Amino acid sequence: MLDQPKTFAPDPGLVETAHADKARYEEMYARSVTDPEGFWADEGKRLDWIEPYTKVKNTSFEPGNISIKWFEDGILNVAANCVDRHLATRADQTAIIWEPDEPDAEALHITYRELHEKVCRFANVLLSQGVMRGDRVVIYLPMIPEAAYAMLACARIGAIHSVVFAGFSPDALANRVNDCGAKLVITADTAPRGGKRTPLKSNTDAALLHCSDKVRCLVVKHTGDQTTWIADRDVDVKAMMEDVAPDCPPRPMGAEDPLFVLYTSGSTGKPKGVVHTSGGYLAYASMTHQYTFDYHDGDVFWCAADVGWVTGHSYIVYGPLANGATTVMFEGVPTYPDAGRFWQIIDKHKVTQFYTAPTALRALMGKGNDLVDAADLSTLKVLGTVGEPINPEAWTWYNEKVGHGRLPIVDTWWQTETGGHMITPLPGATPTKPGSATLPFFGVQPAVLEPESGKLIEETACEGVLVIADSWPGQMRTVWGDHERFEETYFSQYKTYYFAGDGCRRDADGYYWITGRVDDVINVSGHRMGTAEVESALVAHAKVAEAAVVGYPHDIKGQGIYAYVTLMNGEEPSDDLRKELEAWVRNEIGPIAKPDLLQWAPGLPKTRSGKIMRRILRKIAEDDYGSLGDTSTLAEPEVVDDLIANRMNRR
Ligand code: WT7
Repeated sequence: MLDQPKTFAPDPGLVETAHADKARYEEMYARSVTDPEGFWADEGKRLDWIEPYTKVKNTSFEPGNISIKWFEDGILNVAANCVDRHLATRADQTAIIWEPDEPDAEALHITYRELHEKVCRFANVLLSQGVMRGDRVVIYLPMIPEAAYAMLACARIGAIHSVVFAGFSPDALANRVNDCGAKLVITADTAPRGGKRTPLKSNTDAALLHCSDKVRCLVVKHTGDQTTWIADRDVDVKAMMEDVAPDCPPRPMGAEDPLFVLYTSGSTGKPKGVVHTSGGYLAYASMTHQYTFDYHDGDVFWCAADVGWVTGHSYIVYGPLANGATTVMFEGVPTYPDAGRFWQIIDKHKVTQFYTAPTALRALMGKGNDLVDAADLSTLKVLGTVGEPINPEAWTWYNEKVGHGRLPIVDTWWQTETGGHMITPLPGATPTKPGSATLPFFGVQPAVLEPESGKLIEETACEGVLVIADSWPGQMRTVWGDHERFEETYFSQYKTYYFAGDGCRRDADGYYWITGRVDDVINVSGHRMGTAEVESALVAHAKVAEAAVVGYPHDIKGQGIYAYVTLMNGEEPSDDLRKELEAWVRNEIGPIAKPDLLQWAPGLPKTRSGKIMRRILRKIAEDDYGSLGDTSTLAEPEVVDDLIANRMNRR
């Protein structure tokens, strides 16, 4: 009984009004997995279809034939679903509240009518640049309304967008432009964030040096900061939007036409382009937004992620707008001008649902309670978290200081690949336990396998790898340009299942507890990072012979990046070189990839066949070198002593 975690039951008042109480969740869930065809045939109707679908589910997880299609003969337009169809009933309702980086600058309230005109004009600008159905458009923008306009404008004309997080470096941007073969990059002059400015246009200039010279560049003059201008390539979007027509018919698209490509890190090689399509993705984003956050008309929904990540795609733009919601978009950071900014924004805009990452909560917790106590948070109804397991301390602080002990906390487990929430409480239905993502969303069939044998574990209480047994509408369809890699990454290790890459525990109540990645992916501040990616950035430096990167527990970030670096013969370690390598990684990937700890390693522990023993490197990085296990199979056991003696993380 002692280690039985505390359970928090939904508030009875909320149960009354919620879209789903416990009985309804159970009834709907049962139908969603016993009759997925019927269930999703009904749920697909939450969208407006130009031609209704007659086929609902056509999916296969069979080896050699991984194929995922939902609503395949339906015709719709995603932008029309997110904008046009609301005009009849809510043209004057605010669609987007934009909160600028500087709290004293004016917030914008963009109505659905205004959104419609902006999206149409933006779409006409794209058309004028020769963007056609199926063309790829890279969006490298800060958190400004134009990011949403650009995404929806692409959807309107059937172009496929690929949003690249504005914190990524020119090299990372160039790789993505080239991989998806983009015709156009949309960027801004500069991006204010936390009082500093990121030079997005000059980053784009640097990136485009490595891309086809046919790639054009649309520039949103956001700050008015001076930038270079290449006459035949650069286009001033805002000026051009004035010159084009305010209307642009939405193009009828197939449900399985790609809506976007979003790059994410894996355990090997370069980031892969996750492809999401139109009908299934939007239905799933809309349904999860409605049920997980118990969204009702009149609510003000705020997802404090960046549109550069899937969370921003599904829960700033597509889910909320498909549901006719008011969605908040925040340009800045939680700690500027002070660590009370989140709470001040909730107070200012009367936010009803707030969704953030545990790492942000941990950072803010550390700043004391005065700022959170000073804000009026009484409009809040539901709190959410995403990106990593939430530790009990952060959960308790969120519950007590932000939720005043009265609000449900939805801990949502999902991934770029899943399009929307997969395992999550529903506010009026699911008693929560701090640290557990609880139960599956409608249509999701999680299973736990023995990691080595891949055998299905039948017992309720168990631990193993988390897989999903059947398709759901929000599932990614393929890796851009590489369907084989799609199968290899997600369906080859455990045949006939989708393998998410996470480990989990299931308790006696059937609740899921995500224990973290079981591959070489680490989770730094809720951002996914392939250790191989950081390693290849390091070894690209002329003075580096070899590098191995692992994660280690970090109080704020969840995991930190720990790099072991072996220098070329004749190179000497120094603080200057350390700084040089840190700057190098920032340049190759972006600031989020900078190693937190970098240890000079005269050698790396390897097996006799030359394989790096990551298990040992992880232990040393965790400062847990007392339990290294058997090191006798190493080619040079003595390198381990040196690594231990010079370890960087001493608790
Ligand atoms: C990985 C996916 C989906 C949006 C954010 C990240 C981890 C995500 C949780 C959670 C424990 C979580 C998993 C997953 N993760 N949410 N609630 N509890 N872990 O998307 O970059 O695709 O990363 O984030 O390890 O596999 P992503």
